[in-house]
Amino acid sequence: MGWRWLGALLLLPVQLLWLAGKAAACLVLPPRLRDLSRESVLITGGGRGIGRHLATEFAKRGARKIILWGRTEKCLKETTEEIRTMGTECHYFICDVGNREEVYQQAKAVREKVGDITILVNNAAVVHGKSLMDSDDDALLKSQHINTLGQFWTTKAFLPRMLELQNGHIVCLNSVLALSAIPGAIDYCTSKASSFAFMESLTLGLLDCPGVNATTVLPFHTSTEMFQGMRIRFPKLFPPLKPETVARRTVEAVQMNQALLLLPWTMNILVILKSILPQSALEEIHKFSGSYTCMNTFKGRT
Ligand SMILES: NC(=O)c1ccc[n+]([C@@H]2O[C@H](COP(=O)([O-])OP(=O)(O)OC[C@H]3O[C@@H](n4cnc5c(N)ncnc54)[C@H](OP(=O)(O)O)[C@@H]3O)[C@@H](O)[C@H]2O)c1
Repeated sequence: MGWRWLGALLLLPVQLLWLAGKAAACLVLPPRLRDLSRESVLITGGGRGIGRHLATEFAKRGARKIILWGRTEKCLKETTEEIRTMGTECHYFICDVGNREEVYQQAKAVREKVGDITILVNNAAVVHGKSLMDSDDDALLKSQHINTLGQFWTTKAFLPRMLELQNGHIVCLNSVLALSAIPGAIDYCTSKASSFAFMESLTLGLLDCPGVNATTVLPFHTSTEMFQGMRIRFPKLFPPLKPETVARRTVEAVQMNQALLLLPWTMNILVILKSILPQSALEEIHKFSGSYTCMNTFKGRT
């Protein structure tokens, strides 16, 4: 027993070096992308914003069926028509992911009308955009229900069948704010940090489940309606991402079975700085970059 333990201990750094080398090689070698032609993809919040671009990107890359969930029928209908004109089967369902009963009901309706879902993209989210003391209690609860708990219900609804089929992928559109919070969006940052832990736990829990994987994407500010009005100090140095870029990189990450994706890659520096600098130095970075006050001009969706 002692020798086996010692052997495993000595082997671990070798394994870690091998895996790190393999990951580095993947950065330069052309990626091998998974075929999507048998996959049915459900995207929450698929009617507009990044969700709409995700739908077109999955369709472009050959997904078999696209299913959109959201609350605003007009956007869902428009996106569905766009995907159908691309020659891909597409359906939409009105579903508030913050409402557990509605999620289970609509998941059943999807199974009956469309069949099994093999890729679930948890993309729907809201931001209230106020400080804790200025926030209405119900608004604070709403963002936790939609951004965090919604993923519990959608994942519980679709994961069991993926495990049976030994074919599935759970994707989470998270945010860099899960790792580095800002003032003025306390509801959002809390929900995203919580959702990050949810995905970390889920991803590790799937290690023993062949054919079922997970991807968490953490984008920087993206030019959709979500953070309208938000201003950072050096927009030329840190320009917002385009939603189509986020969508393209997300679908690529699914096809490459990448567990974690920070966008842009420079956000990795932020993670390193956070783990080595003292709080006072981090505060200076927040003040210098303007992230400290960026939500003062926030308008959101009007
Ligand atoms: N924009 C950014 O700067 C940014 C940065 C990093 C990460 N992200 C993340 O990327 C994802 C997409 O954001 P986005 O920028 O595309 O935002 P967006 O343009 O505001 O779109 C949000 C989507 O979520 C849907 N949604 C909201 N509440 C819902 C609910 N209760 N049930 C079902 N659907 C709901 C909306 O559709 P309906 O209104 O029709 O329901 C809409 O399709 C989010 O998870 C967000 O946190 C965004």
